Amino acid sequence: MSVVLTEDMAIDPVSDTALFESIANHLADTGYSIHPNALPAGLLHSLHEHLHSMPEYYFKRAGIGRDDNLMLNQFVRKDEVCWINGDSRAGREWLDWAGQLQQYLNRRLFLGLFSFESHFAHYSPGDFYKTHKDAFKGQSNRVVSLVVYLNPDWNKEDQGELVIYQDESNEELIRVTPGFGTIVAFLSEDFPHEVLPANRDRYSIAGWFRVNGSDTQRVDPPR
Ligand code: OGA
Ligand code: MN
Repeated sequence: MSVVLTEDMAIDPVSDTALFESIANHLADTGYSIHPNALPAGLLHSLHEHLHSMPEYYFKRAGIGRDDNLMLNQFVRKDEVCWINGDSRAGREWLDWAGQLQQYLNRRLFLGLFSFESHFAHYSPGDFYKTHKDAFKGQSNRVVSLVVYLNPDWNKEDQGELVIYQDESNEELIRVTPGFGTIVAFLSEDFPHEVLPANRDRYSIAGWFRVNGSDTQRVDPPR
C-alpha cells in the first residue's frame, strides 16, 4: 500500500458544503442519497490506513440493536464490527466530519439530530447482512443512516453490493457497489436494505444520526 501523508491533504470546505447540500436535497426529495467516490480524499485515506493498522481482535461479531443474541444473529448478519469512539486520529477526523454533516442537516432540514454513533464493519468473503431496517417507527431514535466504503479497486465481480428496497414490497430501488469513498445516506426508518455476500474482504463504516430519546423516566446516552 502506498503511503499517503494525510497531513498534506487539506479537506476542501467548498466541496464539502456542496456534498452536504446535495445529501440534504436528496434526503428531502427521495429519502436517500448516493455519492460514488465522494468522501474527502484526506479523510478517506486516513480511515483506510487506520483500518488496516488495527489488530484483528479489535473487531467483534456484530449484534442486532442493543440486545445481542449472537446465536440468533448469525442467520441475519455475519460481519464483525469495531465501534469508533475517537481514540484514534482517523476516528476523530471521521467523527468531526460526521458532526459537520449533522450540523448541516439540522440547519437545512430541521431534523434535530442530537448524536452520531458509528462502527467499522468487516465482511469476510461470503458474509452478509440480510434485509433489515436500521430503525422501526416509535422504537428507535436513529433517523439518518450513513455508510461509507473503504475498498480500493472494487470490481463488479467482487459483488457485495448494498441493496436498498423501496419498502416492504421488496421492490429493489438501487444496488450500491461498495467502492472506495462511496457515501450512502438514507432515512433509517424508511428503507429495508441488505448486504450481499462478496468474493473478497469488504470494509465499510456504518453510522446513525440520532435524535435524543431521553425522557423523564430514562436518560438516553449517546450510545
Ligand atoms: C448496517 C448496514 C450496510 C453496508 O450496518 O446496518 O446496513 O453496506 N450496512 O455495509
Ligand atoms: Mn443497516
